[in-house]
Amino acid sequence: MIRYLTAGESHGEALVGIVEGMPAGVPVTASYLDGHLARRWLGFGRGGRARIEQDRIHVYSGIRFGRTMGSPVALRLDNAAYLRDRSGWPEVMSVEATDEPVEKITLPRPGHADLAGVQKYGFDDIRPVIDRSSARETAMRVACCSVARRLLEEFGIEVGSHVVRIGNVSAGDPAPAVDRLIREGGARALYGEADRSEVRMLDSDASRRAIEHIVETRENGDSLGGVYEVVVTGVPPGLGSYVHWDRRLDGLLAQAILSIQAQKGVEIGDGVAAAGLPGSQVHDEILPGLSRRSNRAGGVEGGVSNGMPIVVRGYMKPIPTLIRPLGTVDLRTGEAQPTRYERSDVTSVPAASTVAEATVAMVIANAFLQKYGGDSLDEIRGRYEREREAGP
Ligand SMILES: Cc1cc2nc3c(=O)[nH]c(=O)nc-3n(C[C@H](O)[C@H](O)[C@H](O)COP(=O)(O)O)c2cc1C
Repeated sequence: MIRYLTAGESHGEALVGIVEGMPAGVPVTASYLDGHLARRWLGFGRGGRARIEQDRIHVYSGIRFGRTMGSPVALRLDNAAYLRDRSGWPEVMSVEATDEPVEKITLPRPGHADLAGVQKYGFDDIRPVIDRSSARETAMRVACCSVARRLLEEFGIEVGSHVVRIGNVSAGDPAPAVDRLIREGGARALYGEADRSEVRMLDSDASRRAIEHIVETRENGDSLGGVYEVVVTGVPPGLGSYVHWDRRLDGLLAQAILSIQAQKGVEIGDGVAAAGLPGSQVHDEILPGLSRRSNRAGGVEGGVSNGMPIVVRGYMKPIPTLIRPLGTVDLRTGEAQPTRYERSDVTSVPAASTVAEATVAMVIANAFLQKYGGDSLDEIRGRYEREREAGP
């Protein structure tokens, strides 16, 4: 079982992470992790921070000569925003008590964690809530989960994603392009193609319209959400289980998506549409050789992978920080006030899709280790190959 923890505030000095439970012998390099971190910054519609941060991972333990050692992998990512704004932020998020006057933030933004956070922890300043609830944390999550993702790649399991909707602009039916790309090069070809679009869409006409929509929305001082699809290829049948609720792969995938800030819906395969269709148009017929005529189930039946690509959609709400103010209440005075604007994205759906790839990879890696696990890559490979040869 691979576990990971992240710590760090958005405007603190750094984010740190620990990945525990990785088998020994898995090739992992800092540049591999940096590659996935760079993909998290992709996307038209990101705010000022995207231009400031240049994530470079520092690896402190758990990897020797480019391979994991089975010991915890400790990671650090500096917050360039902290270093650049050095004059302001160290006092604002100072670890030591400070005599400097620090302005309190007392206008909670609707849709963000601000009000719920101060109510929960009893703060009279929203800053600590903003700093930890912010999606800057997802950078370390991508780094930690990418360590596990590297294990999957050793077994030909790839995770990719693409954006299917931003605001009211939808890509046309993406299925033919997704099928072609995964036939050509698995989920890696899928994410390679999506990364070429500024909004990570496979449909160039929809990409152009989505960019126009983002520009218009920014001019109106508003924000957008959207939908993306994560696809995992090369998954063997038999990951997860129907025998207990917390071993169901679909349940674990849903948690992985909803654990990401601002993700409010999840769908496996045809999920939402399937609820309105007769069974004959939903279930995937089984063909001789145990292949399927279709993959509407999204690769999971009974909480178990069925050997088809796993397809998970995530639904992201619009970003809560708007240039155009919304109504709120000043926590200091109790009076109605407009919200105040802080540096923010107009939409982060392309970025969220790459974070979702990472969190999905961690779920698949753990399900894989539950079935084929061992202390080293060689041990796992031996088990995997034996079972795959013997399997149906
Ligand atoms: C990749 C990513 C980037 C985000 N960027 C912003 C942002 O710039 N401004 C903002 O207000 N919210 C942003 N969010 C959303 C907030 O972090 C999120 O809405 C907030 O933490 C409250 O959590 P909830 O929406 O799950 O209730 C982002 C989310 C993700 C996944």
